[in-house]
Amino acid sequence: MQKFYHILNYGCQMNESDAEHYAAQLEELGYHKNEDFRQADVIVVNTCCVRESAEKKILGKIGELKNVKAQKPEQIICIAGCMAQKDGEKLIKKHPQIDLLIGTSYVNSFKEILEDYLHDKHVRVHTEMLNNQDSEFEGERVRENGFSAWIPIMYGCNNFCTYCIVPYVRGRERSRSVENIIEEVKRAVAGGYKEITLLGQNVNSYGKDFGEKEAFAKLLKEVDKVEGIERIHYMTSHPRDMSEDVIKAVAESKHICENFHVPFQSGSTRILKEMNRGYTREKYLELIKLIRKYVPNAVLTSDIIVGFPGETEEDFLDTYNLVKEVGFDMIFTFIYSKRSGTPAAKMEEQIPLAVKKERLNRLMELQNDISLKLNQKFVGEVVEVIAEGPSRKNDKVWNGRTETNKLVLWPIEDNKFEVGQAVNIKIETAQTWILKGKALV
Ligand code: 5AD
Ligand code: SF4
Repeated sequence: MQKFYHILNYGCQMNESDAEHYAAQLEELGYHKNEDFRQADVIVVNTCCVRESAEKKILGKIGELKNVKAQKPEQIICIAGCMAQKDGEKLIKKHPQIDLLIGTSYVNSFKEILEDYLHDKHVRVHTEMLNNQDSEFEGERVRENGFSAWIPIMYGCNNFCTYCIVPYVRGRERSRSVENIIEEVKRAVAGGYKEITLLGQNVNSYGKDFGEKEAFAKLLKEVDKVEGIERIHYMTSHPRDMSEDVIKAVAESKHICENFHVPFQSGSTRILKEMNRGYTREKYLELIKLIRKYVPNAVLTSDIIVGFPGETEEDFLDTYNLVKEVGFDMIFTFIYSKRSGTPAAKMEEQIPLAVKKERLNRLMELQNDISLKLNQKFVGEVVEVIAEGPSRKNDKVWNGRTETNKLVLWPIEDNKFEVGQAVNIKIETAQTWILKGKALV
């Protein structure tokens, strides 16, 4: 009898990468992927707790699994990831349908934990944080995407931004060695992956734990040399730690994409201080200048939080005006969400939800205008994209991304394209988030 698994993944790219490792371990134990979680013998819910909205969605799903398991009592329900780490036993008490709880330090030992469970069917909780755990990776990953591969380069975060729960659930920074990373990059490229994304909560801190200066810039140069690689991305950068050497490494490289995701979170120096971000508005703007000096066509994106405790209209306008001044290609905007256990949760002057929503809307309207104007500059230009496959809504239309991650759609007419193929597209129309054009074949 075939055995099946299904992974319900939530949250950031690091979680997606962890999920790929869970999938590989399940396949090593003989499980096959099933698209329908109701039919699965093992369900892994890989959770996120960065905002309350994510938690609510996940708790709803865990509740739903109770009914699913009632129809299939042998089903094994495993809750993994950041919320499992944060809430531990509390989750099992509330949701007795859970069989395994796996915190963020146990991604690599999932196979053994599951084998132990299969042996005696005793509920297992592994949420003790192992801050000194080995960060090297020797396993396999089953990747969802056929041409783009996530490669974690470090785990954890030491920053303790006052709003953020991540350092509490992902532990201290631990870097993988250059050799271990390059070995995995080479394996991915040999397996047909043309694009790789180096992942870490703060990639600019890479290697600080082994006392190496400019280790991230050096790593980028090494990855750039890997034979056969076409596009290299990395995320996430911290403006305080992003060095001139990293920017130069991007500028001088052959394959590192010229998009810079540099979250500034707030444009108000006063709020940045309250957030413990370690830079001012002026320093951030200097960094943007430096990026544009070395990489004139840099595509800039950012994360922003609105409604941090104590944020006045004036503070918000600092954020608004910074967005206007820089002209980001895209921003990811978040309403501040109180995370219990973080310093900001205890701050007075929490901002009413209606005010936060109104600020978010103003910011999004501004950005829509900016993104559209920047995209309109592409009309009439030819861009190279890597084909990702048919679009979700219409299989006669394909989509792909440019080097700087812009989404492009084109009709396939009588032509055939392969996933991962480089295609030249002449752009005809621009929308806020998409470019549309014709393939030059
Ligand atoms: N509330 C809202 N947004 C948050 N982020 C992190 N913590 C919170 C929070 N408590 C945002 C930051 C970060 C992104 C991944 O999530 O902008 O860059
Ligand atoms: Fe959270 Fe700040 Fe670390 Fe990012 S850098 S994960 S926002 S603490």
